[in-house]
Parts: sequence; C-alpha cells; structure tokens
Amino acid sequence: MMNPRKYSFIDQFCMSLDQALGGSAHRPYPALHEKEGPLTPEQNQHSAALMRVNHAGEVCAQALYQGQALVSRDKKIREKLCAAAIEEGDHLAWCHQRLKELGSHTSYLNPLWYSGSFVIGLTAGLWGDKWSLGFLAETEQQVVNHLESHLETLPAKDHKSFKVIQQMQEDEAKHRDDAIKLGATELPAFIKKIMSIASKIMVKTAAKI
Ligand SMILES: [Fe+2]
Ligand SMILES: [Fe+2]
Repeated sequence: MMNPRKYSFIDQFCMSLDQALGGSAHRPYPALHEKEGPLTPEQNQHSAALMRVNHAGEVCAQALYQGQALVSRDKKIREKLCAAAIEEGDHLAWCHQRLKELGSHTSYLNPLWYSGSFVIGLTAGLWGDKWSLGFLAETEQQVVNHLESHLETLPAKDHKSFKVIQQMQEDEAKHRDDAIKLGATELPAFIKKIMSIASKIMVKTAAKI
C-alpha cells in the first residue's frame, strides 16, 4: 500500500481500487501443474460461478484490509494488514486466472463490492484495533466455511479450481489465527449474523452478475 502522507484520501482509494481489480500474484499459481477437466458445459458453468464469487470475495477482502489499515493506530497491526492484503492479491489473481481458463468473466459489480467493503473496513477500523481485528477474524472464519462448501460442491474433475480454493482456505485460516494472536475481540452474535447475511447476498449476486 502507498504512504498515506503523500496522497489524498481519494487518490489512495482510487489506487487501491485499481490494485484490487487488476493486481498480479506474488506466489505461483497453485493449479499450475494440474490437468484441466474434462468438464461438461454445465460443470464448467458451475465452476465459473463459484470462482466468480471467490474473485468478488477477494476484491472485498482487499478493500476491507486496505480500509482497516488506513485507520489502524498500531504500526504492527498495520503491517500485518498490508501483508495479508498482498496475499489476498494472490488469491484475486489466481481466481482471475481460473475464470479465464474456464472461459468466463469476473463480477461486473466488482467496483461496487470494493467500495462497500472499503467503507465497512474503514468503519471497523475506526472502532479501534481490537474490534477491527475481531471483525477480521470473523470475516476470515466465514470465508473458511464458505470455501469448504465450494470444495464440497466443485465438479469432481475440476482439480485446478480445487487446488486454488484449497490454498486460499489455508491462507484465510492463517489470517484468522493472526488476527486472534494480535488481540482480536470476539464480535457479538448479532453482528456475526448481519455479516453472514451480507455475504450471502454478495455470493448470490456475484454468482450471476
Ligand atoms: Fe483471500
Ligand atoms: Fe484472508
């Protein structure tokens, strides 16, 4: 992320959005050595819908981390958030690559997902680091559960998507554990419920648009 002292808030938001929508991976593609399919047209479409949802989720993840890092008061936490945002950037690039291999597109609503999540990240960050980390830990836990459901419903022959999702799930669990180690406060049940409903709306929409 860029130095907030050198850029206006709008500049920073636009550059972060640009990075979130078109960044490249720092680690190799996990499915590099996996053979493709064969998938039926229906299976291909199903895998593409799942990967489009995951790509949109990664756009949200980067926005959340960037929004939180911008207002975090603690240098160590800020550094962790930025490091995690880079890993989310890998996920984003991998999902994009898999979507291209499946001959499909990313969600047309990505700028909207990014903007909404950035505001949520900023708001969580303004509540203070303990709550912000609690929000992050809960988000990552919900993503781990969500990715587990994708691993269970992917077409059996889609080994490439499986490898990508498996690596992402491992990273998200690490992000959750890091947030807990840094002192995350557990969120009240009703906040967890609202987060779960909001993510379900995003999942249903991004699968189609
Ligand atoms: Fe991720
Ligand atoms: Fe994550």
